[in-house]
Amino acid sequence: MQYYFAPMEGITGYPFRNTFQKYFPGADRYYSPFLVANQTFHFKKKELRDVAPENNDTLTLIPQVMTAQAEQFVWAVEVLGELGYREVNLNLGCPSATVVTRHKGAGMLEDADRLDRFFEEVFDRLEKKAGALVELPGISLKTRIGFSDVKEAVRLTEIINRYPFCEIIIHPRLREEYYGGTVHREIFHEMYLELEHPVVFNGDLCTIEDVERLKEDFPDLGAVMIGRGALRNPALFRILHCAEGGGDPQSAVLTKEELRPFLDELFGEYSREMSGDVQVMFKMKELWTYLKDLFPGSEKAMKKLRKAKTRADYEAFLNEMI
Ligand SMILES: Cc1cc2nc3c(=O)[nH]c(=O)nc-3n(C[C@H](O)[C@H](O)[C@H](O)COP(=O)(O)O)c2cc1C
Repeated sequence: MQYYFAPMEGITGYPFRNTFQKYFPGADRYYSPFLVANQTFHFKKKELRDVAPENNDTLTLIPQVMTAQAEQFVWAVEVLGELGYREVNLNLGCPSATVVTRHKGAGMLEDADRLDRFFEEVFDRLEKKAGALVELPGISLKTRIGFSDVKEAVRLTEIINRYPFCEIIIHPRLREEYYGGTVHREIFHEMYLELEHPVVFNGDLCTIEDVERLKEDFPDLGAVMIGRGALRNPALFRILHCAEGGGDPQSAVLTKEELRPFLDELFGEYSREMSGDVQVMFKMKELWTYLKDLFPGSEKAMKKLRKAKTRADYEAFLNEMI
């Protein structure tokens, strides 16, 4: 089983990925938060820094792109191919209203015919470029099962099956469900059976038990993608590998002590990327909204963290927690 670290915009940028990989190796691949391809045919400097090969040389990165236009997507694939990437992932999952109203992210699932035309144009354009000097990356999808009705999954599967994607990562929720409520395992099952491509499961895998239950249901599944579960417990990939190798997962559990050097280095890495402790603390506070689950009874300390204004406030919070 391969383990992929999910893309999480605002969290899993390169400072986080590198520091996580150093202290908690075990993810076979990381996906970048989405890069926007638009009519300017330029990525932002921050986006280019995030996928620059020299900022990702300790791990395997698959860059993710968000766009609603085939021409823009193919441009992005070429640029990323020139940087050396062999796979580019297309975002069909972002549920945010500003994205969806522009028919991007999960908004691409709203109109199946338009999605079909988009894929057709993408692969037409890619085919015309085949044989160019740079070998073009393969295309994978990260998709939800539909926009507003689980029945849409049937048509979506038919459409996807007509195109040569290298992998389909499925988060079995509708756009309208954002990231809450239970995932539709039965719809994932149907898509898994029907899709002709390698399929990856993503959604709500937070513990070794969650992953083992999934493996029982889908013994041939080649990979799972995990996001929030790895933020809540940074040792999760280590625990999963340990169990897979026949070891006692208890021997791989996270200790509070190993969190401190990880968090200190992450703070330092963010400080190099951003100007000022306030911005860095904003990032650390966001991460702690997940990490807090490791510390039962930490409500009071978390309140202090929310109020923390200076680095000294943050250090005092850390000393109390760890
Ligand atoms: C804060 C946040 C940011 C996210 N950013 C992205 C993103 O940039 N691209 C993407 O495909 N999914 C994004 N996602 C979705 C995650 O990759 C993942 O599909 C989702 O969290 C469900 O998996 P999990 O239950 O393992 O966390 C984001 C989710 C969250 C909570």
